[in-house]
Amino acid sequence: MCGIIAHLATDDAVNGLIEGLDRLEYRGYDSAGIAVSDGSDLSVYKRAGEISDLKSDLSAAPLTGKIGIGHTRWSTHGPPTDENAHPHTGDRERVAVVHNGVVENHRRLRKQLRADGHEFTSETDTEVIPHLIEEYLEAGDSPEMAFRRTVDDLEGGNAVAAVFEDEARIFASRDGSPLVVGIDDDEYYLASDVPAFLEHTSDVIYLEDGDVVIVEPDQLRILDPDGSSVKRSHETVDWDPEEAGKGAFNHYMLKEINEQPTSLTNTVRGRIDAEQEIVFEELDTGIFDGIEEVHFVGCGTSHHASLYSARLMSRAGICARAFRASEYVETSGPISEKTLVIAVTQSGETADTLAALREATNRGAPTLAVTNVMESTAAREADETVFIRAGPEIGVAATKTFTSQAVTLALLSQKIAGELPQATLREDLPELLEALARIPEDVQQVIDQNQAAELARDLLTYDAYFFIGRGSSLPVALEGALKFKEITYEHAEGFASGQLKHGPLALVTPNTPVFSLFTGEEIEKTITNAKEAQTRGADIIGIGSADSPGQSVSDAYLEIPATHPVCESLLANVQLQLISYHTADLLGRSIDKPRNLAKSVTVG
Ligand code: F6R
Repeated sequence: MCGIIAHLATDDAVNGLIEGLDRLEYRGYDSAGIAVSDGSDLSVYKRAGEISDLKSDLSAAPLTGKIGIGHTRWSTHGPPTDENAHPHTGDRERVAVVHNGVVENHRRLRKQLRADGHEFTSETDTEVIPHLIEEYLEAGDSPEMAFRRTVDDLEGGNAVAAVFEDEARIFASRDGSPLVVGIDDDEYYLASDVPAFLEHTSDVIYLEDGDVVIVEPDQLRILDPDGSSVKRSHETVDWDPEEAGKGAFNHYMLKEINEQPTSLTNTVRGRIDAEQEIVFEELDTGIFDGIEEVHFVGCGTSHHASLYSARLMSRAGICARAFRASEYVETSGPISEKTLVIAVTQSGETADTLAALREATNRGAPTLAVTNVMESTAAREADETVFIRAGPEIGVAATKTFTSQAVTLALLSQKIAGELPQATLREDLPELLEALARIPEDVQQVIDQNQAAELARDLLTYDAYFFIGRGSSLPVALEGALKFKEITYEHAEGFASGQLKHGPLALVTPNTPVFSLFTGEEIEKTITNAKEAQTRGADIIGIGSADSPGQSVSDAYLEIPATHPVCESLLANVQLQLISYHTADLLGRSIDKPRNLAKSVTVG
């Protein structure tokens, strides 16, 4: 996820661009830049680092211009360096471009452009865009035609904004990535999100996929993919600018829960090709040669995602174990060059996980980081890295990063199973891949049902809250309990459902509801365990599909769409995220910054 802004001003566009970037910082913050023009020469300044770094450089060496574009980056293709920062220009520097999304066919386009003599200066997918535009300009196209033909050539979900040399216009397009127009009398804004310009105007036009916008000093034109002018309606946004980073949501956590269909689309995009092969283009699969066992290390939510993946690997016949990173040194047992150690860490900075990663390296194991942050310490120190592509997460409680971790690790587990001779591929792999590709829509359906808000009202007066699951659903039961205790401050515990009668059942009373995951492959056994709790007076809150036999034993039921058994618990997890959120909200808790907790735990 990145943030883009464009501004056509009556005097100078730079302040509007910088303010917009500040407001979009939640979308990415590892590099930033702007390009401005007065309708003649283009001036570009960009750098790795935070927007505050860009601002201080620009106050020492100001740029001016009535039209401009800006970008704040969250790296996906190429690390955060000055060269990879946006805006990007072509060889002839006739156009500057900012972009949000992924150009899925960038390799093919780059190859073709190279063959035509273009030289690239960055590792980004974005850089093909200005080169393509210049190619069309050289062939005699007008700027408008060159821009339209270029965006038409791009595959994937993309939003693009461009300014040209000798042009007092801004060109932009939306196709699968957000872009919204703001109109402030004679001034115009274009941005990934409304907060970028809300200080100036609440008059907005939401563009549709396939729209191209041309902003000129006295008019705004919107063209459909055929080049015909179209009208899009104006809307008035009534958000408080101070709170607008959260959009229409009261908390970042709720916003991030609702973002999951988008973050998961980014997570799976390009990972399953047309031949149903699993693709991790950033990964050298040579790292799997000779591997006999897999160790996962991670903390908290990342440990739960690891447990989920380790179960999938075990099922494929791989010796796989998930360790709490803080316990790794004491409990790992022998490690060798045949042990693949996978560090799972959203931030890539968790001290305990880094310590386990270093321990593995020191003991000769090949290492792989699965992280959300390019250039994080884990990404830099591990031999190989896979990115979960969830975009920045601001709420302390991990939500969208958990689902992106789990889906990435589900794919990785099947990829590894395909690489190791001792493993067997699932017979139902095509169905599983289909379900993983469909997960963004299924999650959207859970969010749209909106059942959890209602149920949360009945949950405020209990003594404690238990979560049970089995097999691939146990990690989600543990995650459900962690999320619940973390933001409600109520006592919550997750148990393997088959372990209830070995101790925890002593805690069960009519005052302890039991969230029961009727998901995955052994639902009948969990039903038996849930009934054991129900007999002791506990209310059973079941989570499962409409046709799950668990529904009939449940006192309340949260429904999920029918899917592959391996994916069911991931959908149930979204219901549990929403239950935790709404309960905490009704209890008036500090949801985005729970007491005593921090987003990144950099001390061991
Ligand atoms: C819980 C949560 C934490 C983190 C843990 C590891 O909602 O966010 O449990 O999962 O601190 O953090 P990362 O994944 O950054 O290593």
